Amino acid sequence: MIFWFSGTGNSHYVAQQLAEQLNDRLIAVSDALLSQNYDYALQQGESIGFVFPTYSWGPAPVMLDFIKNMKVAGVTSATYCYMVTTCGDDVGLSVPIFAKALRKQGLTLQGAFSVQMPNNYICMKGFDVDPDQVRQQKLHAAPERIAHVAMRIAEHRCTTDVVTGKWRWAKSRFIRPWFKRYAMSDKPFHADSAACTGCGKCVETCPMHNIKLHDGRPVWQGRCAMCLACVHHCPMRAIQYGKQTQDKGRYYFKKTN
Ligand SMILES: Cc1cc2nc3c(=O)[nH]c(=O)nc-3n(C[C@H](O)[C@H](O)[C@H](O)COP(=O)(O)O)c2cc1C
Ligand code: SF4
Ligand code: SF4
Repeated sequence: MIFWFSGTGNSHYVAQQLAEQLNDRLIAVSDALLSQNYDYALQQGESIGFVFPTYSWGPAPVMLDFIKNMKVAGVTSATYCYMVTTCGDDVGLSVPIFAKALRKQGLTLQGAFSVQMPNNYICMKGFDVDPDQVRQQKLHAAPERIAHVAMRIAEHRCTTDVVTGKWRWAKSRFIRPWFKRYAMSDKPFHADSAACTGCGKCVETCPMHNIKLHDGRPVWQGRCAMCLACVHHCPMRAIQYGKQTQDKGRYYFKKTN
């Protein structure tokens, strides 16, 4: 059973590849959150996996919210439990943060893996999508990395195989709490009315159903996961986050990359 969350498609791609290679089933966390259906049952011998993006050197908060509420029947001491987090660069202390959240639910994290994928964070000064060459390199390397991770999962390896990066304590313990408090609000989102055509793509791609169209323009509803799917999928580049995103690149995962 693989629970996944994704904004711009990187983690969805990784989860799909793992499900295929491990012959496992996928469960979209965004659907669970919206339907408030948190009850699941493991089949005998089935493992439990979580695939999600790294946000500010920790697990995407939406995944932690899900874990707080989920109830999985059929977990035994033999159940193999793992996480795979996609990131642009490094994941800081995502593993201990995630392990702690799972422990509260009676689960022990045994396998932890990161997969570097194209960066999608563009909402602050100094952060942008990867240059073309870097993006291509990451996408080229991903299938082999995912196959390696799938093999380790199939072997039920107890291992931590992630890129933590430099200054992980400062990033995960100081910057992350600040980021969650001040940089995850959907209030700065707006659509440039000269560019927006009212096509509704942002409404369609938001995994949290957090956008409604009013008079043909998007309005954000205050339950945002900060996944940036809306920003990156807008075909007119009309969506901005405050003043920081106007000149930044856009990215979402495409199968043909
Ligand atoms: C709010 C936010 C914060 C991010 N923080 C980090 C980070 O701390 N470290 C990192 O390497 N990448 C970071 N990223 C980049 C994403 O983790 C990366 O692009 C990921 O693969 C996106 O996954 P998705 O396409 O499944 O949404 C961040 C992205 C967002 C939107
Ligand atoms: S996707 Fe872009 S152009 Fe389409 S409605 Fe949303 S903001 Fe407007
Ligand atoms: S409003 Fe945009 S950033 Fe927020 S959850 Fe929806 S798609 Fe993601």
